[in-house]
Amino acid sequence: MDWAVMQVLTVSVTRQGLTEVSICRLWPDQSSGPGRTRGHAGGMSEKNVYTHGHHESVLRSHTWRTAENSAAYVLAHVVAGMNLLDVGCGPGTITIDLAKRVAPGQVIGVDASASVLEGAARAAEEAACANVTFQSGDITQLEFEDGSFDIVHAHQVLQHLPDPVAALREMRRVCRPGGVVAARDADYAAMTWFPEDPRLTRALELYRRTARANGAEPDAGRRLLGWAQQAGFDDIIPTASTWCYATPADRTWWGSLWADRVTQSSLATQIVDYGLATPEDLESFAEAWRGWMVEADGWYAVLHGEVVCRA
Ligand SMILES: C[S@@+](CC[C@H](N)C(=O)[O-])C[C@H]1O[C@@H](n2cnc3c(N)ncnc32)[C@H](O)[C@@H]1O
Repeated sequence: MDWAVMQVLTVSVTRQGLTEVSICRLWPDQSSGPGRTRGHAGGMSEKNVYTHGHHESVLRSHTWRTAENSAAYVLAHVVAGMNLLDVGCGPGTITIDLAKRVAPGQVIGVDASASVLEGAARAAEEAACANVTFQSGDITQLEFEDGSFDIVHAHQVLQHLPDPVAALREMRRVCRPGGVVAARDADYAAMTWFPEDPRLTRALELYRRTARANGAEPDAGRRLLGWAQQAGFDDIIPTASTWCYATPADRTWWGSLWADRVTQSSLATQIVDYGLATPEDLESFAEAWRGWMVEADGWYAVLHGEVVCRA
C-alpha cells in the first residue's frame, strides 16, 4: 500500500466520530469532517475522497462551466424531449444548460455532496429552469431503475473515483438500451503552460500525488477509452478537447482561483496533512500563480479525454 494512502486511512479512523450515516459528505471539503458513508444508497463508497472539495475558489472554477465549453462533444446527441442524468453535477451549471436543451424532457443532477447541491438548486431557480431537479447520491449506486434515462453524463467525475469502470457500468445500467453514456475528464499530466515556472510544475505534481493517495487517477483523460471498453461498451466515440486561458481576463481568473485553491481549499489541507509540502511551499505556489497571471504571454491549456458510448 502507498504510504500516503495509509495516511488517508489513518485520518479517516481518527475522525470517525464525525461520520454521518444519512447525509452524503465528502471529506475534507465539509467543515464538519470526513464522513464517507455507505449506509444508504445516497452515501459515498468507501475510500471515495473528492480531492478538490467545494471551497469557494473551487466553485469559482466549476461555475464557469457551460454545456458549450465543457460538453460540446456530446451536444449532437442532446435532443429536446430526452430525459438526462448528470452524475457528479457539482454546482450544476452544465446540468442547467443541458436541461434547457432537452426541455420538456426532464433532467436530474446527482452529486455526493449535499452542500454543493443547494447551490445548484438555487442556480436552477435563478435561471427559471423548471425541468431540472437535484438529489444526493453515489455514482456507483444510483437510485434509479434500469434504463431510466436517454443520456447519462459525467463531467470531471471519473478521475475522482477509486473504480471508474464500476461507475461507467452503473451509468450504463440506468441508461436505456440505445441511449448515450458520455464522460469527459481532464488529463493532469498533459496540462501545459508558458512561461515555465518550477513552482507550478511542482504544484501540479503534488496535486497528482494527492489524487493518487486518495485512490483516484488524475491522468484520466487518456484512460477514458480503456475504461469504457472495460465497462463493456463496444460502440464508443473517443475525442479530445481543451480549455485554454490566455487572454488577460482569463489569466487573471484562472491564476487567482488557483492561487486560492492551492492555499485555502481542501487540496491545500491534504497536501500538508499527507506530508507532501509545507504551508510555506503552498504560499510559494500561490505566488507563482499570481506571477504567471500577469505575464503578457501567459498561456495555459487543459487537455481532456471524452467518450460518447452507445448503451
Ligand atoms: C470536479 S467536480 C465536477 C462538477 C461538475 N460535473 C462540473 O463539471 O462542473 C466533481 C463532482 O463529483 C462529485 N463526486 C465525487 N465522487 C462522487 C460519487 N461517488 N458520486 C457522485 N458524485 C461524486 C463531487 O462532489 C464533485 O461535485
